[in-house]
Amino acid sequence: MRVFHLSAECYPVAKVGGLADVVGALPKYQNRAGLQAAVVMPFYNRKFTQENTFDIVFRASTLLGTRRLYFEILKESTDKLGFELYLVKIPGLIDREEVYQYPDETDQFIAFQIAFLDWISYSQQTPDIIHCHDHHSGLVPYLLQHSRLYTRLANTPTVLTIHNGQYHGAFGWNKLSYLPEIDMSTTGLLDWGGSINPLAAAVKCCWRYTTVSPTYLTELSLQSNGLEYLFYLEGHKGSGIINGIDTEVWNPKTDAMIPGKFTIKQITAGKRVNKEALCSRFGLSPDRPLISFIGRLVFEKGADLLAAALEESFNEHPGQFNFLLLGAGEKDNERELIELRNFYSDQCNIFIGYDESLAHLIYAGSDFLLMPSRVEPCGLNQLYALRYGTCPMVRRTGGLKDTVIDFGDDGGYGICYNNASVEDICHSVTRAITLYKNTAHLERLQKLMMALDFSWDRSAKEYINLYESLKPTI
Ligand code: ADP
Ligand code: GLC
Repeated sequence: MRVFHLSAECYPVAKVGGLADVVGALPKYQNRAGLQAAVVMPFYNRKFTQENTFDIVFRASTLLGTRRLYFEILKESTDKLGFELYLVKIPGLIDREEVYQYPDETDQFIAFQIAFLDWISYSQQTPDIIHCHDHHSGLVPYLLQHSRLYTRLANTPTVLTIHNGQYHGAFGWNKLSYLPEIDMSTTGLLDWGGSINPLAAAVKCCWRYTTVSPTYLTELSLQSNGLEYLFYLEGHKGSGIINGIDTEVWNPKTDAMIPGKFTIKQITAGKRVNKEALCSRFGLSPDRPLISFIGRLVFEKGADLLAAALEESFNEHPGQFNFLLLGAGEKDNERELIELRNFYSDQCNIFIGYDESLAHLIYAGSDFLLMPSRVEPCGLNQLYALRYGTCPMVRRTGGLKDTVIDFGDDGGYGICYNNASVEDICHSVTRAITLYKNTAHLERLQKLMMALDFSWDRSAKEYINLYESLKPTI
């Protein structure tokens, strides 16, 4: 079965968040299970594309409205990622460094999708499944069925995975002419709230959609930035499949990015080596419990609550724990956190920026990982934390609810709370400090965490079963 995954991100080619981790791992595991899964993404001028070799497998031009675009499809020459990687390159539009946030982002992603469809259509490829990830490829299910150009592929089953239902990629009707040769009687399928809404169009036109956790599936019909009723209407097509993690990239036994490699047997000594390295780099005492945060500093992640909650906790427990943050995002959040660090420099350090190896060291060297998310479709950070024996402190929402059991409950290992609020965060900090004092209990829980299996093996099979169910029944 030949599957194309369409995505804006893919680790290690270009990563902004968890979407990249998923698209960089799922196809690899699917291939091991016997599929032919490939990834197609926009070309970015970054380290990976500069340091690897590519073959040009297709070259043509297409139209974006009246603008003629010359595009190439590049294939990574060695398949070293465990899947075929194809990049769509369009000079001046899809050959820049950043993944998001260009003013012409709408044009960038429409052009990406048209180039992909032109390529598979003209080169006579017949994939068994087209798997779209988030709104960046959300127009594909619509175009396949309602553009005259792609009639040959109209019966190709499409699967949409929603990693983040807050972002829809909506744009104005003035860009309708960018969509090639569509049947004008079907434009209602593109509409939501008076705009062309690629995520809504994908939910309407895909054969099936999945969310990255079962709980997030139910949450979408309650909170999805205006698409609630659509998810209610289309719910029969949806299912929740929890993300896995790439246990080769995230393996404390072999991780080249951490100084102290460890297995479940040397958990205490191993974590200590990493904690000392981390604390010495950030000027913190390794003898206090270390609570960390990694992630995008945005409202969804509860980043705006951190400074107030930490300030209150530092005052309540002076000198009794340390806090370390790695992240970037909203400037106001960044400023508040820097101010917090300046005031509580003995207990707190803040690294504003993106640093993949530092993230590994933080998962390995921290005792606790704080995630007070308001919205968390799956969340990978808590899974990485668990793999490195670090206790997640999570709000019960989305995938956090599906993957972390409170240590006070049967079989539990984490710290859970119900509200994204300063009060609940402070209470979880108090529980973490108390737990840390009971060394034997914490070590028992750490062993439980490290023994959990969140590898992709199971979830990759669930996707394959979903694909199988869409095979033509002749
Ligand atoms: P999201 O995709 O919503 O940001 P996830 O929990 O799914 O959240 O995935 C976040 C991924 O991005 C993880 O691999 C995490 O380690 C990584 N990450 C987030 N922020 C940073 C950062 N500032 N530096 C390094 N890695 C980061
Ligand atoms: C999104 C979500 C995150 C999820 C990731 C990968 O970025 O915010 O919760 O883990 O996608 O599916």
